[in-house]
Parts: sequence; C-alpha cells; structure tokens
Amino acid sequence: MQKIIITGGPRLIGEVEVSGAKNAALPILAATLLAPGPCRIDNVPDLMDVKTLCKLLEFMGMKTRRDGRAITMDAATILNKEAPYELVKTMRASVLVLCPLVARFGEAKVSLPGGCAIGARPINLHLMGLEKMGAKVQIEHGYVYVTADRLKGARIYFDIKTVTGTENLMMAGALAEGTTVLENAACEPEVVDLADFLNKMGANIKGAGTDTITIEGVSELTPSDYSVMPDRIEAATFIAAAAITRGDVLIKNCIPAHLDAVISKLQEVGVDINKEADGLRVKVMNKLKSVDVKTMPYPGFPTDMQAQMMALMCTTQGLSVITETIFENRFTHVMELQRMGADIRIEGNSAMVTGIGRLSGAPVMATDLRASASLILAGLAAKDETEISRIYHLDRGYERIEDKLSRLGAKIKRVS
Ligand code: EPU
Repeated sequence: MQKIIITGGPRLIGEVEVSGAKNAALPILAATLLAPGPCRIDNVPDLMDVKTLCKLLEFMGMKTRRDGRAITMDAATILNKEAPYELVKTMRASVLVLCPLVARFGEAKVSLPGGCAIGARPINLHLMGLEKMGAKVQIEHGYVYVTADRLKGARIYFDIKTVTGTENLMMAGALAEGTTVLENAACEPEVVDLADFLNKMGANIKGAGTDTITIEGVSELTPSDYSVMPDRIEAATFIAAAAITRGDVLIKNCIPAHLDAVISKLQEVGVDINKEADGLRVKVMNKLKSVDVKTMPYPGFPTDMQAQMMALMCTTQGLSVITETIFENRFTHVMELQRMGADIRIEGNSAMVTGIGRLSGAPVMATDLRASASLILAGLAAKDETEISRIYHLDRGYERIEDKLSRLGAKIKRVS
C-alpha cells in the first residue's frame, strides 16, 4: 500500500497549473453515451475516478482511447445498459450513466450506490425526476431498473439542490419529447460545463447556472468535441496550500469567477489574493485570522473545501466555527487532525476549531478524497514528519498532487 510522507515547514513558492475538473469530466464523459459516434473530450484529468467511469462505459460497449489530455469516446455500439455493483460501489458518480441510458435506449439497470463515508447520499431525486418524465422505476435486488418508451418533458422541482441529480435530469431532458423545466436546480459551474457540451451536441438547454433550467427536447444529438473546464476545487486547494505554508504561489489555468466564495473567505482570513494576467497570485504578508465558515450550494462556500479550510484554521490563532450543511458525516478528518495536535470540538454539524499556530507531524489515515487533501495541507505546515496512509482516496481526485507540490518546494514523497 502506498503512503505519502511530508516533512512540514517549507513555504510554497512558484507556479502551479490546475488540471481539468473531475466533477465536470465525469458527467461529460457519461453524456457521450447520448450520441452515436466519436466525441473527443480534452483536458480530462488522469484520475482514478475517470478510469473507473471509462471502465464502466467500456463494459457497456463504449470505445475509449486516451491520447495525452484527451479521451475519445465512441458510443456507436452500446450493447449492455447495465452499471454493475462492483463498479458503482467504488464510485457513486457512476449513477450519471442512468439518465443517458434511459434517454437514448429507453432502459437502464444501475446498481444503487449504497452508503458513503461522507453521508447517506440517496438518489431519490434522480428517480423522482425520471418518474415525472414518464419512466417506470423499479428497485429490486439492489438495482434500479428504469424503462421508458420515450421520456416526456416535465416540470421537476428539487426539494434539495443536487448536483448530479440536476446533471442526470438535464441529460434526460435533452432527448425527451417536449419541454423539461428543472426548478431549484444546482447552479455549480460543472452543471454549466455539461450544459455547454450538450448544447454543442445539438441540445437546447437554457438557464444552466441559475436555479431554473429549461430544456427543449430534441430527437437526437450529434457527437461533438469539447474541452473540460479547470478544476475549481483543485485550484482552491492550492490557494489553501499557499496560505497554510505562508507562501507565494501563482495558480495558473483557473477561472477566478468560480472561486468567489473561497477567495473572499481567504481574503477575510488575511491571505493576499490578486488576479494576474496568467492566474491568481496567492501570498501571505500578514498574520492570519480565524473566520467562521458555512458550506452552502454554489455560489456558497463549497463542501469540497471544508476539510482543507479546517486544516488552515488549525494554524491560525483564535476560534473558528466551521458548519457543514451539505453532508451529514463530513468530519472524519477531525480525528486525524486531532492526532496532529489540533484543538477541535464537534457540536452537531459544526466544528469549533481553536487555532494552535503549528500542528505536529504524525501518522494519519485518509478517510475520503477531500479529507486526504486536508491532511496533506496540515502536513505541509506541521513540525516534523507526517505519514498519510490510504492515499487511494487522494488519487481519485487530485492529479499527481505530490509532483505539483514538490515543484513548489514542498518536501513530499510517495512511498510503497
Ligand atoms: N441528496 C438527496 N437525494 C438525492 C440527491 C442528493 O437527498 O437524490 C442530498 C445528498 O445526500 C446531499 C445533498 O443532497 O446531502 C447534496 O448532494 P448532491 O447530490 O449535490 O451531491 P452529488 O451530486 O452526489 C457532487 C459532487 C461532490 C460534491 C457534491 C456537493 C460529483 C461527481 N460529486 O456530489 O463531490 O461534494 O456534489 O457539491 O459532482 C468530491 O469531489 O469530493 C465530491 C464529493
């Protein structure tokens, strides 16, 4: 089993390039199921989650070929409309194949994902939307079976904002008969990236990025090429890495507008963040302050940055209250940060973090993707050595993070 070993201390200095967004690449790759023929998708990060999705799509009959940053997907022949448990249980985003299969072929058999380290994460809203569009949904033996002659446009209201739920039903609406309106839809930039790709394939989607999305169904979509947006959570993680080491880093290939909530929170902390021609310059000139943080759907502060922000708050002075409102169990990093000396108390869905200035290196265990990133940040700033195990979580969502951090001067290595 591989581990990451970090000797904390060095300030990060230099430039870092952000990769393509995992959470945009996954729905876009799934969406290539909707059109019969080759789509060349560029700027796809080389991550375990992308490999898992390609494996699932290949199992269905998709032909995939990676060529550098791009993957060509060809869904001309899809024989198998099934997503088996073995693949879905390793990656919940596999559920993104559900609506493309039903929309194009009128049937799908997809394993229910089951529980997850960060929360229950049901898919009831995805299924509610499909039923509203006239599909027959049955759950049996751990699988959801969905059939429909042709989906019919419908007005669908989400009780809770759901990112992949919005994406799935947007793909369903693209090939449905008539108009679909998604209300209280997720506004994340990844939803907009998927809508842009679908529109490039000939779909008629308006309003993506707002909470009402209107989709005029078309009878077929045409294969198209596309380039995935940069990863805003990776960019934000590098901002936090520069901040926690009190460094000076230029973050290239990011879209600052996607990072508004993170930038303004970190400016409140006292981090200097400025737009330059080729990226975001992050510098620490002053003493950092503690701030309160509450995770919210976009454009609020992202839950995918909560753990990293907590690591940063451990290194300031004063009390910070971090409230998680999206997932019910996203504090597993707290116990690991406590092993590094952090002073954190959990009360309900809030963590009271009292900054202690400097953490101390320790052997810790990654429990999920973003928790792993928070332990890396903590290790970068801690005294002495931090050894992080179970780093397969990290490889699901960060492309060669140890290489990128090494180039910025971090003392970090991967060992077997
Ligand atoms: N929810 C329901 N019913 C549903 C769908 C969602 O109750 O049918 C609840 C969830 O349990 C959760 C809330 O709604 O409490 C929001 O979940 P959402 O559906 O938005 O999450 P997701 O689509 O499964 C995506 C990202 C996550 C990110 C969340 C929130 C992808 C592939 N995943 O998940 O990314 O945390 O949105 O922004 O886009 C990560 O990258 O580390 C990650 C976990």
